[in-house]
Amino acid sequence: MWKVSFSEVWAKQLVTKGYDPMQSIENVIERILELKTERNAVILAHNYERGEIQDIADFTGDSLGLSRQAMEQEADVIVFCGVHFMAESAAILSPEKTVLLPERYAGCPMASMITASALREEKKKYPDAAVVCYVNSTADVKAESDICCTSANAVEVVNSLKEDEILFVPDKNLADYVSRYSTKKIIPWEGYCPTHNQILVTDILKAKKIHPAAEVLAHPECRRDVIDLSDKVFSTTGMIEYVKDAGNEFIIATEMGVLHKLEKDNPEKRFYNASEFTVCPEMKAIDLDSLLLSLENMQHVITVPEEIRAKARIALDRMLEIKRTR
Ligand code: 13P
Ligand code: SF4
Repeated sequence: MWKVSFSEVWAKQLVTKGYDPMQSIENVIERILELKTERNAVILAHNYERGEIQDIADFTGDSLGLSRQAMEQEADVIVFCGVHFMAESAAILSPEKTVLLPERYAGCPMASMITASALREEKKKYPDAAVVCYVNSTADVKAESDICCTSANAVEVVNSLKEDEILFVPDKNLADYVSRYSTKKIIPWEGYCPTHNQILVTDILKAKKIHPAAEVLAHPECRRDVIDLSDKVFSTTGMIEYVKDAGNEFIIATEMGVLHKLEKDNPEKRFYNASEFTVCPEMKAIDLDSLLLSLENMQHVITVPEEIRAKARIALDRMLEIKRTR
């Protein structure tokens, strides 16, 4: 689901609620914080979100870290600033809480590249294979899977399984990355992240030419040839942790939102986008106005039917038992 602009809708809703859409950012932030207390809410934001959303969040992180946070929260309401599958994972892990996704249509194109029924058909072709499902997938796809993984633990998850054959869905690039660190036969699904898949070797070569002293850090959703040109491969939180004790200049081959925290935490270091196209429009869909409306109107509540939730929970729990190593 690609983002269209909803700013006019927001403006109308803000006016209906008595807000002036032209009011200052300070007022919007103040009201968000008031509502957060009133609702006993916690705000979680992915590392790809807009800078102002990351700044107002109680916790920022990668998919693995945010899943753990969602489970550990004592708040009544989780406002998930990310895309739909992330809010769904929070709803699966914390069914007693109200989970809100401020932008109803923020979805992950990669998660839409597989359906539960298509996965059921594929499983028939590989009856001995374990199904490993990247968390960037819908709840009903997770419910059809044996175990989930994120970019931070995919290798560990695959290698923890007793099966020698792995049906890995839906990211073909992550599947390929895992296959380099496992002796198991990895059968990939043909999905991919449009934002990472469009980072090309030519982009990396160009960036390296301009910044010859910079280390290249890539996300495992990138293509194999881009990974081959990179110095290190990490999830977004992996990158944030790595740079603390590493050099001074980095070319970042992932969605550009992560540069916000990298630059904030390391003002003396330099970070360069691998290309000018490293933006995921879905991850930029939530802004301060939509966050305010979300808390004001308790919208948009994300729920998962109990039968699906219980099965998907097993796949997520199995993953969460495995320790993060990168
Ligand atoms: P993480 O590496 O932070 O888990 O995120 C990858 C991603 O693309 C989320 O949509
Ligand atoms: Fe999906 Fe890629 Fe956007 Fe993450 S960055 S939400 S994987 S399209």
